[in-house]
Amino acid sequence: MIIVLFGKPGAGKGTQAPLLASKLNVPTLATGDVLRAARRAGTPLGKEAQGFMDRGELVPDSVILGILKEELAQAAYTNGVILDGAVRTVPQAEGLRAMLSSLGRKVDAVLALDIDNEEIVKRLSGRVVCEKCQTPYTGREPGEICEKCGGTLVRRKDDEPEAIRTRLKVYDTDTAPVLDWYKKAADKVLVVDGAGSVDDVTKRIVKGLGAM
Ligand code: AP5
Repeated sequence: MIIVLFGKPGAGKGTQAPLLASKLNVPTLATGDVLRAARRAGTPLGKEAQGFMDRGELVPDSVILGILKEELAQAAYTNGVILDGAVRTVPQAEGLRAMLSSLGRKVDAVLALDIDNEEIVKRLSGRVVCEKCQTPYTGREPGEICEKCGGTLVRRKDDEPEAIRTRLKVYDTDTAPVLDWYKKAADKVLVVDGAGSVDDVTKRIVKGLGAM
């Protein structure tokens, strides 16, 4: 099963993806994680992506489609994948469709987490992550120590107020039209309320997918 997990920055994609992955027994692929790993490793991809990411802008479509092409060729994704934040522009949706079609595959469902901007700002401005193992924390401060690996907690550059504003604007102009594109293409689109506890959201997703 191939699921496109879609939503505003901070909608909960990265939180829900692994929970859903373990229920459906398929791996996740998050382009944001691939890009951050490339940055940490100092690869050309990471260097190219850095400025876009820190400003809260989108990395160019050609780069994202290159990542998807390389990753989706891996055996790990043969039985399906949850694509977390991997489709954020119409050209990316078109490119993914062509790529999958050449492999005799298709997107089975688009799952959109719906949430208002006020909650997004609250979630993102309260988030710190471990700079070593990337575990996210809420209610902790930059400089504190990660309980999992002893790394230092930092605020993502794109979780600073100006970058959050940019990310929300970019979502409205470039990413929101993707949902209409999928609807017009008669793909299965499930919109789930992303507010409430993590557990409540997971239950809504599982119920919605079961009813599709
Ligand atoms: P990425 O890392 O994917 O950033 P994002 O989409 O902005 O996603 P976030 O990780 O901030 O939010 P999320 O929806 O995953 O929510 P999360 O579960 O983490 O991408 C970073 C950058 O890479 C992009 O800005 C862009 O530059 C580039 N990029 C990546 N993919 C690209 C693409 N396809 N095209 C072009 N550029 C691309 O939750 C957020 C916070 O809320 C966490 O602290 C979490 O603990 C908390 N939370 C989650 N659920 C709940 C809940 N139910 N209740 C309370 N708190 C919650």
